[in-house]
Amino acid sequence: MSLSFDRSAALIADAANTIAGGVNSNFRIGMAGGPLVFARGDGPYLIDADGNRLIDYYCGMGAMILGHTPKGVQQAVKDQVDKGILYAGQSEIEFEAAKILCERIPSAQRIRFGSSGSEVAQAAFRLARAATGKRVILKFEGHYHGWFDNILWSTAPAQNAAGPEDAPVLVPGSVGQDAMDATGLDVVGWNNLERLEARLAKGDVAGVIMEPAMCNQGAIEASAGYLQGALAACRKHGALLIFDEVITGFRLDRSGAQARFGVTPDLSIFAKAMANGFPVAAIVGRADLLDMFVKGGVLHGGTFNAQPVTMAAMLAVQQALTPGGYEAASRRGVRLREGIRGILEDAGVKAQVTGFELMFHVGFGLDAPARNYRDLLKSDKALYVKFCHALLKRGVRALERGAWFVSFEHSDDVIDRTLEAVRGAAKEIA
Ligand SMILES: Cc1ncc(COP(=O)(O)O)c(C=O)c1O
Repeated sequence: MSLSFDRSAALIADAANTIAGGVNSNFRIGMAGGPLVFARGDGPYLIDADGNRLIDYYCGMGAMILGHTPKGVQQAVKDQVDKGILYAGQSEIEFEAAKILCERIPSAQRIRFGSSGSEVAQAAFRLARAATGKRVILKFEGHYHGWFDNILWSTAPAQNAAGPEDAPVLVPGSVGQDAMDATGLDVVGWNNLERLEARLAKGDVAGVIMEPAMCNQGAIEASAGYLQGALAACRKHGALLIFDEVITGFRLDRSGAQARFGVTPDLSIFAKAMANGFPVAAIVGRADLLDMFVKGGVLHGGTFNAQPVTMAAMLAVQQALTPGGYEAASRRGVRLREGIRGILEDAGVKAQVTGFELMFHVGFGLDAPARNYRDLLKSDKALYVKFCHALLKRGVRALERGAWFVSFEHSDDVIDRTLEAVRGAAKEIA
């Protein structure tokens, strides 16, 4: 089987006359086979403009944990649309949604909703600075917390620009960012407690933001004791610990990676899978911190915050995220992960397959599992892009950065057909 994507290519070329590049996010430009145009989704599949029915492991960049067409969610949205679209006031549906999340997420004493992960990250930084009176947000190399100017630094720096591993320098993620944007930011390597403690000891850090498992790049579990140690170090030096659970939330555990790993941060942000593709994000955390939005003079706004249609979607998603659903999907996710590992091994393709049940990572050319961004830099990205292209021609859409997102809808049959495509693609590139 070798699919063609000619109509997508022609549509994109034409769209580029109106939309810059024919895409509305740079992350959609794609590498393996160019950006695609989709007509519709169906469970684990996306049907593209050429009529190809692709098994989808992008899953909306991690958002579509229930697949592309969850009936209960679709119905809840239709019902809510009939009741109106935006009230610029409160609705009982957002209260109900907030209650469920506060029950589920260990750190969520209070919550505020927003529309994107990038945006609620900004709310976390503002709260951290307001609560501590300190200035610096400390981030980790290779971690991504949105595309805004003050945080899009050292997300994917080239080796020759990143400085020494034990003293990385801040590298902008985009042309057009100003050095001034990073005056309240610093970067250290992730998964190394000594370096984190040394930086915190300077005493100027308001908040430390990290993915509790590194998933935007790689799929890396923190070393034993690292998350606990980071929390203790933040306490000792008067900084807040902020978990970015935009990917890990509802994927590593229904209650977040913080529940899975037993570490409760001061603040956390969620988005993506929380509402299965509807634009809902949340900042959650300690009551005294979130209440600063009301009593502490800290502003948080947004026309679309807790938009009722998205709240209805989120509520329906939360109801559909059952323990049984996780259990079954996790079993299939592990079968896929281990199947890919075995096929690559048999084909003589050097790779590390690491991560979790519903999200894992395939890194070509690595001798050992990556522990941080510097390790990931050693992977053979060009060969992996070829592999993705070979998969796409066989009807499987996998992210070129190595991430695989599995939904509740990826059935055993879909996994079997994926593994068949992996076998063919591995043979092609070996
Ligand atoms: C870990 C992480 N944080 C934050 C964001 C930003 O979220 P959004 O794209 O909704 O602004 C992303 C997006 O991919 C992410 O992966």
